[in-house]
Amino acid sequence: MKTIATPLRWFATTLLVAATVSAQSIAQINGDKFLSPFNGQTVSNVTGIVTAKGPDGIWLRSVKPSCDKRVSNGLYVYGSALASNASVSIGDVVVLGGKVSEYRSSKDYIYMTELGSPKITAILEHGRDVEPLVIGKGTLSPPTSQYSGLDNGDVFAVPNNQSLLSVANPQLEPELYGLDFWESLMGELVTIENPRAIGRPNQYGDTWVVGDWTTTGDNGRTGLTVSAGDGNPEGIIIGSPLDGSDNPTDTKLGDRLETITGVVFQAFGFYRILPLTNLTVAESLAPPLPPPTSLTSAGTCAGVTVGGYNVENFYAGDTAHVQAVASHIVEYMRSPDLLAVQEIQDDNGETDDGSVGSEATLTALADAIRALGGASYNYTYISPVNDESGGAPGGNIRVAYLYRPEVLRLRAGASPGDATTANEVLPGPELKLNPGYVDPANAAWTNSRKPLAAAWELADGSGERPLFTVNVHWGSKGGSSSLHGDARPPVNGGVEDRQAQAEVTASFVASILAEDASAYVVTIGDFNEFAFARPIADFAALSGLQDLDAAAGIPAAERYTYLYDMNSQELDHVFVSPALAAATEGFEHLHVNTWVPYDDATSDHDPSVAKFDIC
Ligand SMILES: *[C@@H]1O[C@H](CO)[C@@H](O)[C@H](O)[C@H]1NC(C)=O
Ligand SMILES: *[C@@H]1O[C@H](CO)[C@@H](O)[C@H](O)[C@H]1NC(C)=O
Ligand SMILES: *[C@@H]1O[C@H](CO)[C@@H](O)[C@H](O)[C@H]1NC(C)=O
Ligand SMILES: *[C@@H]1O[C@H](CO)[C@@H](O)[C@H](O)[C@H]1NC(C)=O
Ligand SMILES: *[C@@H]1O[C@H](CO)[C@@H](O)[C@H](O)[C@H]1NC(C)=O
Repeated sequence: MKTIATPLRWFATTLLVAATVSAQSIAQINGDKFLSPFNGQTVSNVTGIVTAKGPDGIWLRSVKPSCDKRVSNGLYVYGSALASNASVSIGDVVVLGGKVSEYRSSKDYIYMTELGSPKITAILEHGRDVEPLVIGKGTLSPPTSQYSGLDNGDVFAVPNNQSLLSVANPQLEPELYGLDFWESLMGELVTIENPRAIGRPNQYGDTWVVGDWTTTGDNGRTGLTVSAGDGNPEGIIIGSPLDGSDNPTDTKLGDRLETITGVVFQAFGFYRILPLTNLTVAESLAPPLPPPTSLTSAGTCAGVTVGGYNVENFYAGDTAHVQAVASHIVEYMRSPDLLAVQEIQDDNGETDDGSVGSEATLTALADAIRALGGASYNYTYISPVNDESGGAPGGNIRVAYLYRPEVLRLRAGASPGDATTANEVLPGPELKLNPGYVDPANAAWTNSRKPLAAAWELADGSGERPLFTVNVHWGSKGGSSSLHGDARPPVNGGVEDRQAQAEVTASFVASILAEDASAYVVTIGDFNEFAFARPIADFAALSGLQDLDAAAGIPAAERYTYLYDMNSQELDHVFVSPALAAATEGFEHLHVNTWVPYDDATSDHDPSVAKFDIC
C-alpha cells in the first residue's frame, strides 16, 4: 500500500474508510486547513486532557501539543453518554477512539471538525491542570479587518459568493484572517479578559464581544463600526453556557463583562465561544442615553432642520409604539421642520384586507407629537398599490413626510401624484407632481417601497431656491449569508435590487441637478446599505450628491444607526447636493435605539437630524 502512487493511494484511503487509523494526535486530526484530513475515518488511541464538559459532548486538549499556529490542539468529542459519564472529569487524561466528521446544520455554514461515536479505552491520569489560552496575550490576537483570503481583500465585495470555503479548504493563515484565526483555535479552552459587549444579545442571550486585544473601528460607545475593507473579525459571539445557565438578554452596547472562559465552537453560522458559565455584566456605560440633538430650527431659511427616522412597522393601533416614536421625535430630534419617516404602515397595520390608507396612522403620530409638546405637524404621503411594497405582509409600508406648516410648505403649482404615476423634473427645476413617486412602475421597485420626491419652500417666503427631497427606503438585506458563512465573499442579500434602485433614484436626482447645478437636493432615508458598498458608491457618483456624514465631518467610526451581529453600521443616510453640502450647519445621529437593551428599543434604527442654512 505504501508504495502506491499518490492518486491511487488517495483512492485506496477512501475505500479503507472502515478501517481504523490508530495513534492520531489531535493536531493531526485537525490539520492546518478548515477540513480534517481524517474526515470520515475511524481513529483509535486519541489521547487528550478533558478541558470542558457540555450537555452533548466533551472537549479535549492534546497531551503533545503542536507548535504550528495554524493547527488547533483542541477537539470536540460529540456523544451525550460520554458527556454525562460521571467517571470522566475535567483534568483526566483519556484515550479514546471514534469517527472523525465535519458537521454543520446548514449548507450555508462552515463545518466543524468533531470526533463522534466515542469509546473510551483508558483513563491514564486524573487531576491534570487545565489552563485556558488567553486570547490577546502574546501573539494570540484575532486579525482586525479581513475574514478570509477568499474574500479577495473585501468582505463586502460584489459580486458575492465567488467561492465556498468548504470547497477551497485553504491552508489557515490565522495572523491575517479572522475565520482562520478562530478555526486555528477550534475546540480549545480560551479566556477573554476585560470583555465588553459590541452588540445586543439575540433572544437566546448570545452576545458579541471583544476582549483585551487590538480592535479597529472603535466608536465612542466602544462598539466597532464597520468600514470599507474592515468587517471587524476581531469580534466573537458568546453562545450558550455549558453549565446550563442562561446568558442575560438585556446586555447593551458597551457593557463591561466579567472574564469569560469557554471553548471555541462553531454553530448557527458563527464561530463562537461556549462559556463555562453565563455572562455577567460588571458595569454599564453612563449616561444610558445620548443627549438630544443640538440642532434646532431657526424657523426661517437661516436654519432649517431635516430629520430621518425608520419608525419600524408603525401604525396607529400600536399605541405604545406611537407614544415611544413621538417621544423620540419631540425629546431627541426636537421636532425638525421636515421629517422623512420610513415604515409607515396602512391604518390597520398587518391586517391584509386591501386597505392602503395611512391617514389615521399619521394623524395619530402628529397628535402624539403635539400632545408631548412638540411641533404641530402636517404630513404628506402617497398610498402604494396593495401588497406591492414588501415588508411585513399586509402592512403596505411606505415613506412619508411630516412638516411644520409654519416653517415649510409644499411648493404650489403641482398636485400630488398617485401610486402608479411617475414624478417628473420640469424646467426650473420644478416637480410635475408634489409629492410624487419616482418611477414607480420601474422593475427596480418590485415588492419594494417607492421613493417619494417633493419640493418645498419656506412658509415666510424667505429663501430663493426650493428644497427638493427624495425619501427612500431601499430593499432589505434579507437573504444575506453570515460573515462567518461558507460563501465568500458572503452573500449581501438584495444587493442587485439595491443597485437597480440606486440607479433609478440617482437618475431622478441627476435630472434636477441637470436643470440647476446649484439646486438644493436631499436624498434621505433607509438605504439598507453601507456608504462604501457598491450601490451607494454608484448612487453618489451617478446622482452628483455627497454623503452628508463626510460633508459634516462626522468621524468614520461615529457613522452608525444600526447594530447587526458584531458591527455598528450605518444603513440610514443623508446625501446632499453640492450647494446644500456647502449650506450644512450640522448633522447628528441620535443613538436612542442602538445604546439601549433590546426590549427598550423603539425601532431597530437610530434617527438623524441635519440643519441647513438655505437663505
Ligand atoms: C497509543 O498511544 C500511545 C501514546 O500516544 C502509544 O504509546 C501507543 O503505542 C499507542 N497505541 C497504539 C495501539 O497505537
Ligand atoms: C464511563 O467511563 C468509564 C471510564 O472510562 C467507562 O468504564 C464506562 O463504561 C463509561 N460509562 C458509560 C455509560 O459509557
Ligand atoms: C453560493 O453558491 C453556491 C453555488 O456555488 C450555492 O450552492 C449556495 O447556495 C450559494 N450560497 C448562498 C448563501 O446563496
Ligand atoms: C446566571 O447563572 C446563575 C447561576 O446559575 C443564575 O443564578 C443567574 O440567574 C443566571 N443569569 C441569568 C441572566 O439567567
Ligand atoms: C395642517 O393640519 C391642520 C390640522 O390638521 C389643518 O387644519 C391644516 O389645514 C393643515 N395645513 C395644510 C397646509 O395642509
